[in-house]
Amino acid sequence: MYSPSLLVAALAAILPSVSALNITVYRPDVPLVPSPLPPSHAQTDGNEIISLFQTLGRNTIWKSIANISFEGDTYEPEGMVRLVSGDVERFIVSAGEYMAPTVHYNETINGTDRSPGAGFAHLVVFDGNGSRIADATLTPEGALQYHNGGIDFDGQHIWCTIAQYRPNATAYVARVDPTTMESRKILQIEDHQGGVVHDVKTNNIYTLNWGSRNGSTFNLNRLAYNAANEGVFTRPQSVARNPSYFVDYQDCKFMGHSRYYHWRPIMLCSGVWNAGTFNLGGIALVDANTMVPVAEVPIQMTSFTGYPVTQNPVEVAVVDGKLRLYLMPDQHNSTLFVYEAEPGSPFQFGGTGGAF
Ligand SMILES: *[C@@H]1O[C@H](CO)[C@@H](O)[C@H](O)[C@H]1NC(C)=O
Ligand SMILES: *[C@@H]1O[C@H](CO)[C@@H](O)[C@H](O)[C@H]1NC(C)=O
Ligand SMILES: *[C@@H]1O[C@H](CO)[C@@H](O)[C@H](O)[C@H]1NC(C)=O
Ligand SMILES: *[C@@H]1O[C@H](CO)[C@@H](O)[C@H](O)[C@H]1NC(C)=O
Ligand SMILES: *[C@@H]1O[C@H](CO)[C@@H](O)[C@H](O)[C@H]1NC(C)=O
Ligand SMILES: *[C@@H]1O[C@H](CO)[C@@H](O)[C@H](O)[C@H]1NC(C)=O
Ligand SMILES: *[C@@H]1O[C@H](CO)[C@@H](O)[C@H](O)[C@H]1NC(C)=O
Ligand SMILES: *[C@@H]1O[C@H](CO)[C@@H](O)[C@H](O)[C@H]1NC(C)=O
Repeated sequence: MYSPSLLVAALAAILPSVSALNITVYRPDVPLVPSPLPPSHAQTDGNEIISLFQTLGRNTIWKSIANISFEGDTYEPEGMVRLVSGDVERFIVSAGEYMAPTVHYNETINGTDRSPGAGFAHLVVFDGNGSRIADATLTPEGALQYHNGGIDFDGQHIWCTIAQYRPNATAYVARVDPTTMESRKILQIEDHQGGVVHDVKTNNIYTLNWGSRNGSTFNLNRLAYNAANEGVFTRPQSVARNPSYFVDYQDCKFMGHSRYYHWRPIMLCSGVWNAGTFNLGGIALVDANTMVPVAEVPIQMTSFTGYPVTQNPVEVAVVDGKLRLYLMPDQHNSTLFVYEAEPGSPFQFGGTGGAF
């Protein structure tokens, strides 16, 4: 029998929703992003990054290469991708603009511990010198889900999680075309999600929930039919509890299926543990399927505000055979810190002695 609501449901299933574009272009005279878009880490330097990570340790000397001041209000930066092709270099930063704060309840209400607050999810485009090229707002005014977390670039799209800004709430995964900044809702998840990477090879997306305590795997070949079914949550294929409590990952980049780790899907993540006045920063290589860290290194550098540089976005590159980290820890008036791991830094005998 013909049913308009079934037709609507069927259309919604094949047409993921595209949200209206809300973008301010500050520099119409320069390209928004490089053309052609560069390949992803997984398609290029992922294995080399993983190899270089093996030389890191507590005693690695992180040489400061540059501190680049980023133009304009950067809100709260959460994630970052660096797109370079030819002489065009772009940093695309996911950020949260908060109009009303979340307020802690003194109890758990509807599974969560604070009021929703209000704000906007942004993707802001900068050039390599920190000049602001454009600022796209991905969410409408009054949206309950407005927190844009850690992001990744898969060679074609930027992947974002847009979530309620509170634990154990809801989120959706959005896919953004960087050449236009148009975003599509891909699937909705019944938990907060604060970061995502996309594996083009398997078409899996891996998401991290509040504090990256759980990692979820969704296979888009099997789940695409659920896209944009407003109000329908997609169940992950699997959920893995994060066994590591050193830091909570804030932003991850997919490195591909590394031969070094028997072809497991590996992501590079950075994060922090803030415990009162004690702050620990670190980076890790993590098996995206199981959340098991396969390599972990603490990072001691702090920003101008005293927080670990790994507090928010991270990107990574290999320049002249050396590993570079790009980090943007501070809110509103942000500096991009660029560090390079000095080769030959002592990475053995780095212990504190103990009873040996
Ligand atoms: C960047 O700032 C840090 C912290 O103030 C400083 O130690 C470092 O020398 C600066 N790096 C450069 C390249 O100016
Ligand atoms: C929570 O408890 C604190 C201390 O008792 C109180 O000041 C605050 O108003 C309470 N908050 C709410 C939302 O009830
Ligand atoms: C909890 O959920 C119920 C049912 O959806 C809703 O009516 C109520 O307003 C929610 N409470 C809060 C504090 O959000
Ligand atoms: C998450 O929220 C749901 C209700 O929405 C609740 O049943 C569940 O216990 C909550 N989980 C945690 C870990 O608090
Ligand atoms: C960025 O800075 C470098 C070095 O100061 C300069 O050569 C280059 O032209 C600048 N690029 C842009 C896009 O302003
Ligand atoms: C566009 O985004 C800005 C925030 O960056 C917001 O103030 C404005 O209301 C948004 N416009 C629409 C139509 O949503
Ligand atoms: C992690 O996932 C498991 C299994 O779904 C669930 O029982 C647990 O509450 C989750 N923990 C957190 C902190 O989200
Ligand atoms: C932004 O931060 C830089 C570096 O700490 C500082 O020099 C500058 O004055 C700040 N600008 C504003 C507008 O706060």
